[in-house]
Amino acid sequence: MKSYKIAILAGDGIGPEITKEAIKVLKLVEQRNDVSFELLPAAFGGCAYFETGQAFPQATKDICDQADAILKGPIGLSHEESKKIPIDEQPERGALLPLRRRYDTFANFRPVFLPKELAHFSPLKAEVIGDGIDLIMVRELVGGLYFGEKESGVNEQGLRYVKETLEYDELQISRILHEAFKLASKRKKVLHNIHKSNVLKSSVLWNEIVDEVASEYPDVKVIHFLVDAAATMLCLNPTQFDVMVMENMFGDILSDQGGGILGSLGLMPSACLGDEKAYYEPSHGSAPDIAGKNMANPYSMIGSVAMMLENSFDMPEEAKNIWDAMQGVFADGYSTADLSKPGSDVEMISTDQFGDKVVEKLAKMATVNN
Ligand code: IPM
Ligand code: MN
Repeated sequence: MKSYKIAILAGDGIGPEITKEAIKVLKLVEQRNDVSFELLPAAFGGCAYFETGQAFPQATKDICDQADAILKGPIGLSHEESKKIPIDEQPERGALLPLRRRYDTFANFRPVFLPKELAHFSPLKAEVIGDGIDLIMVRELVGGLYFGEKESGVNEQGLRYVKETLEYDELQISRILHEAFKLASKRKKVLHNIHKSNVLKSSVLWNEIVDEVASEYPDVKVIHFLVDAAATMLCLNPTQFDVMVMENMFGDILSDQGGGILGSLGLMPSACLGDEKAYYEPSHGSAPDIAGKNMANPYSMIGSVAMMLENSFDMPEEAKNIWDAMQGVFADGYSTADLSKPGSDVEMISTDQFGDKVVEKLAKMATVNN
């Protein structure tokens, strides 16, 4: 029997309650398959700071170091709570970016998926959604503005100033492009390269390397899009996209727009892969305003489990079962609060009801080992 260690970083806000539902699914996967999971919970984010004085404590680093994969909930605090923490220990800068850097998880995959049966969740018209939205954003996750040198102070004119650096070398660019080309080869063989080469020199180098790497994937057609135009097209005609690749900051912004066209960031799981280690997380924040109310959508967290099974544990069939189970729950006419207004033609369910329904559906599906 295969056995894996999974570090569980439940995070802040709605993190613990959506992680609970993801664990229900993991437990069922364990029961149904020839696999065992050792779950290793660890403190991470704002909660870890208040407990230990550090947002990414050494004990958590040790657990993550020995884990085969990391499942991470959203982190972040309300504006008021954040102000109680020194700026560099705030969970984004003090925990999340160091996690990404520690494991060099450069390749972030963010599926933007909505079958046509669920078009009612989207703010876009049904005719725009057509046969459904099914694209993947591939975001470079450990370079660019996020990790460049920063400087701030008072300049010669006595004005406060700040300087942040956008830096990439050719290896950082080519490795993420290879990931995107490989994915495009397995899908529709079209890659949308998102850039801003009319202004940014970083995009000029990026595009040069796109041309070089493209020569190794002759069957993939590359379509170049300026990032601002891509933002418009994601609203007007999202179905033209299949795989989109972009640098870190563009990916942060466009992937939230991805959640927007689906109807909710709650539908946005993600995989963050490095050469040695991978972690999985929802693309959204910790929603402190609805924390503890049993109304958050656990789809992004359960979807992150599916991505973990596929990418870290070589269980693509079970991953697909989980996707199908989640979509099946929605297709049965249920909705979480983020996706529908009260009074619309759906039955509203809570966080744990959604998890229970997914488990119920998954339990009825065939496994490859049976
Ligand atoms: C994301 C998040 C993070 C990011 C924040 C929490 C630092 O928005 O994963 O998209 O900007 O990368
Ligand atoms: Mn983001």
